[in-house]
Amino acid sequence: MSRLSFTHRVEPGNRPDATPLLLLHGTGGDENDLLPLGRMVAPGSTLLAVRGQVLEHGMPRFFRRLAEGVFDEDDVRRRAHELADFVAAARAEYDLAAPIALGYSNGANIAAAVMLLRPGVLRGGILLRAMVPLETPPPADLAGTSVLVASGTRDPIVPAANGERLAAMLSAAGADVERRVLPSGHELSQADLTLARNWLAQHQGQASAA
Ligand code: MLT
Repeated sequence: MSRLSFTHRVEPGNRPDATPLLLLHGTGGDENDLLPLGRMVAPGSTLLAVRGQVLEHGMPRFFRRLAEGVFDEDDVRRRAHELADFVAAARAEYDLAAPIALGYSNGANIAAAVMLLRPGVLRGGILLRAMVPLETPPPADLAGTSVLVASGTRDPIVPAANGERLAAMLSAAGADVERRVLPSGHELSQADLTLARNWLAQHQGQASAA
């Protein structure tokens, strides 16, 4: 599996009609982190789990940041394109439909960047504790892309207004956005799992398998 550019794992599903999930971990995670969540959120879906290629003091991430919440936007752009290219290559290699991203924190942020920079690569996204990845993204047409943006009321890393701004940005680009704010911090909770599973059950079959 190392022929493709990112370290990754594929867990084949047993429901060929189910949209695959692209699992994108938070800072310090790896391709194994979100597999249990992915299995619970999308039973039977193929899971494609990827490891970020940037190291921050040894912790994998998907793009560089200058400080907490302050992103190196040139790097965000470059890494988002690299991840989009990887998704295209992995789809060909494993015969997959366009995936829905399930991203947490830094992984949710890169998923948002891929959507804004490379519309159509992702069929949708479950963005848990996401922030605006690019202050001024280029115009994008996200019609047909479904997104769940879930924030925490007590999140010390992502101010609620930032999640709100991301939801508005995706919505303005034409995405079908559901915005939810949960009574939690930056960490994930059972409420995220339930929300993500229900949202996916509603959206999995809707878009065409581009
Ligand atoms: C980031 O991308 O830096 C996140 O929003 C915060 C984190 O990953 O810790």
